[in-house]
Amino acid sequence: MPKSKTKTFGILTSGGDCPGLNAAIRGVCKAATGEYDMRVVGIANGYRGLIEGNARVLRREDFSGILTQGGTILGASREKPFKTNENDSAAGGDKIKEIKTNYKKMNLDCLVVLGGNGTHKTAYRLQQEGLNVIGLPKTIDNDLAKTDVTFGFYSATDVATEAIDRLHSTAHAHNRVMVVETMGHKAGWLALTAGIAGGADTILIPEIPYSPEAIAAHIETRRKNGKPFSIVAVAEGAMSKAYAKDPKRYKASMGENVSTGYVVAREIEALADIETRVTVLGYLQRGGTPSPADRLLATRLGVRAAKALAEGDYGKMVALKDDKTTLVPLKDVQGKLKLVSHKHELIENARLLETCLGEP
Ligand code: F6P
Repeated sequence: MPKSKTKTFGILTSGGDCPGLNAAIRGVCKAATGEYDMRVVGIANGYRGLIEGNARVLRREDFSGILTQGGTILGASREKPFKTNENDSAAGGDKIKEIKTNYKKMNLDCLVVLGGNGTHKTAYRLQQEGLNVIGLPKTIDNDLAKTDVTFGFYSATDVATEAIDRLHSTAHAHNRVMVVETMGHKAGWLALTAGIAGGADTILIPEIPYSPEAIAAHIETRRKNGKPFSIVAVAEGAMSKAYAKDPKRYKASMGENVSTGYVVAREIEALADIETRVTVLGYLQRGGTPSPADRLLATRLGVRAAKALAEGDYGKMVALKDDKTTLVPLKDVQGKLKLVSHKHELIENARLLETCLGEP
């Protein structure tokens, strides 16, 4: 059995859950405990479990048969120990100190964290505090830097695309505009990929502040060309040019908690003489079994993490670059969002397909 520099590692899932987390856990743990004879400590509820010492040794049966399961067998939280440490009197002291104490108590040689941007920011700071950390890129938003894709993204794109497919028939039946809002936080990857895959007529992403007039004109052109219905795919972070210029005034006029899709629908109805309906996909994009593409990606990244553990190659995030798994330093990942470039090939594709991107 090949020698491993890591004898015992901890594993946790942090941030929003997504399909593929359990596939990744399985990939890391099966390879590490099988091929490399390591011991794995499952830490509950993200970094909160590490602060509270809520953890237990995982047996092989714990990560057997979980490849197709949605969610995470470990539980997740959005605990950000460095962010809340200073002013959280309820914390009853120093969260970072608790983490270091528990890391030692659990006799860990390394901590494996599955998460997105916030998770990797914490991972990098824990590495600077002297812990050994390895990250895996998880998020349906696909907005983590230095990796071509994150697991969870393919499954969410499948859900959003199927929703758009279904909305075409009802839009056509009623000669309506169907606005479908995707998740994605501050990035437009989900709306862009599902919008193109689903044949949306308009795609609105945060990276391109939109002109409501341009959308209305596109709807009118379709009507004149015998298509009196439209599908508008909107990323939850999308905003009009007016909003981008003066968010406070705009929010006041639109109301604080109005979801982006409803804002767009209201703008369309004010400018175009057509009925508009809204579907917010929300957590449907985060639930359920991972797609085969996500199962494969999560497994590949998980197994690569087990190899990094064996090699003692800490302070890195496992990434996919040009369809090969690789390791990138945590310092190059943390705090950098990967947003859709205006020059991205998918943007060019959308334009050549005469998709309206909200541009005049
Ligand atoms: O980061 C994943 C994500 O689903 C985003 O797309 C979304 O904006 C956010 O999480 C929702 O956060 P929460 O699960 O805390 O409501």
